[in-house]
Amino acid sequence: MPRLRAWFLITAFACVYSSCSSSSVSVGANAQEQPNAALYRPAFHFSPEKNWINDPAGLVFDGSDYHLFNQYNPYGDQWGHMSWSHSVSKDLVSWQELPVALMEANGIGIFTGSAVLDAGNTSGFGRNGISPLVAIYTGNSAGLQTQNVAYSIDRGRTWSRYEGNPVLDLHESDFRDPMVFWHEPTKRWVMVASLALKHKVLFFSSPDLKTWTKLSEFGPAGANGAPNWECPNLFQLPVANQAGQEKWVLELGIGDNGPAGGSATQYFVGEFDGTKFVDVNPLNQTLWVDYGSDFYAAQTWSNIPKADGRRIAIAWMDNWKYADKLPTSPWRGQTTAPRTLGLLQTRDGIRLTQIPAKELEVLRDEHVQLRNATWVDAEALLSRRDWPETIEIDADLELNGSQDFGFVLRKGASFGTRVGYDATWSDVYVDRTHFGDVIIAPTFAAKHEAPIAIQNGRIHLHILLDRSSVELFADNGLVTITDLIYPRAVDRGLGVYATGKPPSVIALDVWTLKRRARQD
Ligand code: FRU
Repeated sequence: MPRLRAWFLITAFACVYSSCSSSSVSVGANAQEQPNAALYRPAFHFSPEKNWINDPAGLVFDGSDYHLFNQYNPYGDQWGHMSWSHSVSKDLVSWQELPVALMEANGIGIFTGSAVLDAGNTSGFGRNGISPLVAIYTGNSAGLQTQNVAYSIDRGRTWSRYEGNPVLDLHESDFRDPMVFWHEPTKRWVMVASLALKHKVLFFSSPDLKTWTKLSEFGPAGANGAPNWECPNLFQLPVANQAGQEKWVLELGIGDNGPAGGSATQYFVGEFDGTKFVDVNPLNQTLWVDYGSDFYAAQTWSNIPKADGRRIAIAWMDNWKYADKLPTSPWRGQTTAPRTLGLLQTRDGIRLTQIPAKELEVLRDEHVQLRNATWVDAEALLSRRDWPETIEIDADLELNGSQDFGFVLRKGASFGTRVGYDATWSDVYVDRTHFGDVIIAPTFAAKHEAPIAIQNGRIHLHILLDRSSVELFADNGLVTITDLIYPRAVDRGLGVYATGKPPSVIALDVWTLKRRARQD
């Protein structure tokens, strides 16, 4: 590399967190006076207009609307008075908030659960040929968690609770988060729910969603140090590179001690015969759905038509470690982008893949790109202008023996979040150590790494940046890292960095993303 070029690179990279101000841009006199609601409220991720949310629940497609319910406090921005808020979307991107679907009542909180379309009216809740939507949720009261159902025959707009509730009571204080699906081979409903403190999930079956019979148990297994198991999700997926092979995936939240600290989601790959789940992971190592700090209580939509065939997931983009301290008002909590799930046979076994749902592509606005270019070209492309707060980056890079390199997001004179690769550990990472100047919790400002297997000397990094989050999908979705960030309004730059030899650019695409008009 000519001397001049090398010098330019060093200068460009040395500027990232130091005194280089050329890419720190001003966005108008009152930018810093904006209330947090506007500063951080996501432009294309779901968040409530006001109040607290945690877990997504009851994800079901009714043939016209995608339904999203959330754990919701109707009275404030801290956890409490758990109820199910309700939003609908035609495209998984724009969400319309509807009135609260299920309110805490008589001191019984409505905890997480799922929803199904009972197409055969097995429950008898349907009327006049209308198939009911049936929600199966945990009723939480002091020392007791039971499973309950509610139904709607007006496409989820109003809900009635079944008078025979609870439908499942094991006299347990930590028995929750029922996920229900129709198991076609055995022609019955199956429920998986967690016995949280015992690190077990229990399987039940039912002909009508009202009477449940225990089938089997799974666990403890997987991650050590989990204080509890929550929010199970079980579904079948084809293995993309093994024609005709299908496996079942069991996802589970653990409340603490995840790879980035705090809550996290692990998964098992196995067989499910309608009665019992058997883990077929040969090495018995812990598999993480996401290595970031902010991915929890993932759920997948039920009833997506066979012709579509996708399994689409969304998670609470948050962490119990600091969820109540996030600097937003009058809302608190948001969900990840919708993700299409897949399975891939790798050298190490069958692994989950996650890529942004294709619906998100409607957000793409201005586009710049490079093909077969240098890292200097990439720096020039990114540092040339003021960037909006919402960006998508898709990069195919060749390693060239590079050490540590990546992209800087929301870059300013002293701040920025790095998304990169470190050859020493063969890790990809999101480093939010210097995301901005808000103090949230002692562990918040940190770097989160995920192991990656480099093949053919190339790496693929796909990044979604919203006002207060970064989602990295590396290696075509084999590894994801999801992190919240709270950058300063003025830090709007993008850049690249490298220590040692920079990578070369096979392809780099950058889009600005539109803010989706909210329907509320
Ligand atoms: C997971 C969780 C669930 C529970 C809900 C309560 O984040 O603890 O197990 O149903 O939150 O809000």
